[in-house]
Amino acid sequence: MTDHPLNGPDSPRGCPVAHGGGDGLTRLYGPEAATDPYGIYARLRKEHGPVAPVLLEGDVPAWLVLGYRECRRVLDNPRQFARDSRIWRDWKEGRVDGASPLMQMVGWRPDCVSQDGEPHRRLRGAVNDNLQAVASRGIRRHVTHFANKQIDAFAEAGSADLVAEYAEYLPMLVLTRVFGLAEGEGRRLAESSAQVIKGGAEALTHNDRIMQILGELAERKRMEPGSDFTTGLMEHHADLDDDEVLSHLRLVLIAAHTTTSNLLARVLQLVLTDTTRLSGLVSGQLNISAVVEEVMWSTPPLSVLPGRFATADLELGGHRIHEGDLLVLGLTAGNVDPEIRPDVGISVHGNQSHLAFSSGPHECPGQNIGQAIIETAVDVLLHRLPGLRLAVAPEQLTSTASSWEARLDRLPVEFAV
Ligand code: HEM
Repeated sequence: MTDHPLNGPDSPRGCPVAHGGGDGLTRLYGPEAATDPYGIYARLRKEHGPVAPVLLEGDVPAWLVLGYRECRRVLDNPRQFARDSRIWRDWKEGRVDGASPLMQMVGWRPDCVSQDGEPHRRLRGAVNDNLQAVASRGIRRHVTHFANKQIDAFAEAGSADLVAEYAEYLPMLVLTRVFGLAEGEGRRLAESSAQVIKGGAEALTHNDRIMQILGELAERKRMEPGSDFTTGLMEHHADLDDDEVLSHLRLVLIAAHTTTSNLLARVLQLVLTDTTRLSGLVSGQLNISAVVEEVMWSTPPLSVLPGRFATADLELGGHRIHEGDLLVLGLTAGNVDPEIRPDVGISVHGNQSHLAFSSGPHECPGQNIGQAIIETAVDVLLHRLPGLRLAVAPEQLTSTASSWEARLDRLPVEFAV
């Protein structure tokens, strides 16, 4: 059984300056992680097994969980692996700066994703009730409206980049309607949400920008309540205070937009690089939900999920995990773990046990909404653009990754006008 190399008895625990990626530890950020995250996961699995020591932005130490069963053990056992980062040892002992971009993803906030037990149930209940209300008010109508509007902007050109001109922006437009925001705020919010997840020096500024827009929204809705998600949160019987309302607006906005836009781009990529799938969808013989399911296994929108914190010293995947250690969950790696999928070529059709929506108490409560957005968006696109096809060879499509996600860069297409 091995300790984290930065947590061993003779090493200063998690000292970022002294080690700086030296020690042979793998960084989950930087040039290699941006271009070859899958290569990194495969190498780490080979070298360390189902759990590997890694460095996150700022060379902060963490464990990357690569095994499917180990991911499920962590996610399904909040008593051993808490979501509440206030027990994170490197942060408590002052080795992680409060202004670090990492804190945008891992740091504590008064929202449901940062809590466990009863406080989590109370806050998640408020979010869930309001997401159900959103779903029952006809989310597909909003998607159809904005999808058509987006397509109108490029339909005459006969060509488009479906990442920049469709997938990157559509879910946020739908969210502006759901939240009660002006449509014009959508682009700024989409850009800022992407930057928060990407990390880097600008992440904090972009988070502030999001909080300012949402703060103004909350103030307006206090004076003029409506039938929207924001008003619903404020009036919920769980009695959220102002900070809790704001933090949940932020959480839902970022969680819903970045994942759904990434997933939409990947679904379109899969459809357009395989003419059998494309013609199956156009003729109605193939259901889009089957394609979405396939992508959930192969390229889940969140490749690595932040984060869980060990509540005691324990063993996981042959490694000694110490109380207060940070663990991040390799959802992409877990989905292709040879222990559960010795042959990744075998179809996963009808099997929904992928890790893309996480599992346990924090499993995504917005998955039906995300899937409804994607299904409607693909449907509208295929009906509006006859003869839709990829404008480049499939192998020319590239993606760029941060620690948490790998996003398709461009999806150039052509169609009949
Ligand atoms: C379709 C693409 C989506 C994917 C792949 C996805 C993925 C995830 C994952 C992996 C988590 C778990 C976080 C954890 O365990 O720490 C999560 C949580 C969450 N998601 Fe999603 N999500 C998607 C869409 C959405 C949408 C559309 C919404 C809202 C409209 C949403 C709202 C949330 C919220 C509020 C949480 C926190 C739940 C909690 O902590 O109890 N997600 N999502």
